[in-house]
Amino acid sequence: MSIPVPITVSDNRDSPRNPRGAVYIETYGCQMNFNDSEIVAAILKKHGWQITENPDRADVILLNTCAIREKAEERVKQRIRELQARFRRAHRQTLIGVLGCMAERMRKELIEQGYAEIVCGPDAYRSLPVLIDRAATGQEAVNVLLSREETYEDIEPVRLHSNGVSAFVSIIRGCNKMCTFCVVPFTRGRERSRPPESILREVRQLVAQGYREVVLLGQNVDSYRWVDNRTGQVVRFADLLGMVARLSPWLRVRFSTSHPRDMTEDVLAVMARYPNICKHIHLPVQSGSTRVLQRMRRGYTREWYLALIERIRQWLPDVAITTDIIAGFCGETEEDHEETLTLMEAVRFDQSFMFRYSERPRTYAQRYYRDDVPLEVKIRRLNEIIALQREHSLWRNQQEIGKIRRVLIEGTATRSANQWAGRTSQNKMVVFARDTRLHPGDYVDVEIVDCTSATLIGGRWRKVQDIQEPVHL
Ligand code: 5AD
Ligand code: SF4
Repeated sequence: MSIPVPITVSDNRDSPRNPRGAVYIETYGCQMNFNDSEIVAAILKKHGWQITENPDRADVILLNTCAIREKAEERVKQRIRELQARFRRAHRQTLIGVLGCMAERMRKELIEQGYAEIVCGPDAYRSLPVLIDRAATGQEAVNVLLSREETYEDIEPVRLHSNGVSAFVSIIRGCNKMCTFCVVPFTRGRERSRPPESILREVRQLVAQGYREVVLLGQNVDSYRWVDNRTGQVVRFADLLGMVARLSPWLRVRFSTSHPRDMTEDVLAVMARYPNICKHIHLPVQSGSTRVLQRMRRGYTREWYLALIERIRQWLPDVAITTDIIAGFCGETEEDHEETLTLMEAVRFDQSFMFRYSERPRTYAQRYYRDDVPLEVKIRRLNEIIALQREHSLWRNQQEIGKIRRVLIEGTATRSANQWAGRTSQNKMVVFARDTRLHPGDYVDVEIVDCTSATLIGGRWRKVQDIQEPVHL
């Protein structure tokens, strides 16, 4: 899932007595990137840097970037030019660092083209304090080494983007899948799993701090695999999910992203078994045409995906399924596109992230296929996909009306200060009238009385006292 929203960060809780200076971090791209920024903040704080939410007060500005589509990169470049103009006007000397996937992809080019003084890839964040010092003295500051081991397992992220209720926890980094359209294997490197003890330690600490939800993150969580060298014991994703779920019944467990090829029945079984594992699966399909899926090297067919959906719904009748779809991949015909629409009709996804294909340097598709679907055709197909999805999202939400759902309150609704906002297990946002007896982090059983395609509207509610009791009003 990638919703590119820049978020400013703030954390001044325990700034050191002799700060080196202030760093401002802005994050783009996927949830993994947001979690990485929290790791970066932890590393910098340990080295005496203060984290500020005001770019005008920063000595160093770091942009944690996304390279997945060209548009994502253009936004970052534009933002940097804007910041540079602002600092010139204010006669400020502020260092700019590019982190993340764009750093890994463009490397020195970013410095040569005057976009940054510091370039640091996703596996090199431990070297950031040194890179900043180097840049400050006018030396070259680039580290884009990818690692086969780095999982930042010992680093306790500084929670920058959190509402105090839900937190991201990375469990696996990198991706070995090599889908032909995707730049991620080149920017985030090979797959490596984080040791289960370090994951459990982090989650236990979050629970102790009052967090009520964790989102286990990875490009492909289903390929999580850890072998204990001493005992030879293997911990796979299903095992890990169970371990995390058992830590506390009050803790909700989410995860993202699943790969249709790697999602196994034992994951579904463990989801069915633990009420606190949320009944939501993000399962990117990319296309409904087997021919296109083959060209994408996704490792499954349309029929295989549909059969998997059926199995998921057998195990978890109440599950919400969301997806990613690409419109206009190389060689996609009108028939292929129709197949995407009919697959959507067959599944009726609760929500989708929909993109038009964007050719990325170094990928297999860029090297061996022609990006031959004209832009206006890509746009038209994407619009058809978006329109259909909107119908399905609305239809799915309408099915919720009349039900009572357990909601974890996250905070005040963005649209109205008089409403609480929280999510159901299915990851659907619910808003309902604010009441001073309730607080973020509380569980409430809420009657769903209305909806839009994006939000459920709640009516009567009851605060949950005992998490084990069934949902009722
Ligand atoms: N063009 C368009 N969309 C892409 N995605 C990945 N690579 C590309 C690309 N080159 C989409 C996929 C993926 C999501 C994170 O971004 O749908 O699942
Ligand atoms: Fe996340 Fe990198 Fe993918 Fe962007 S390209 S969505 S930052 S992994």
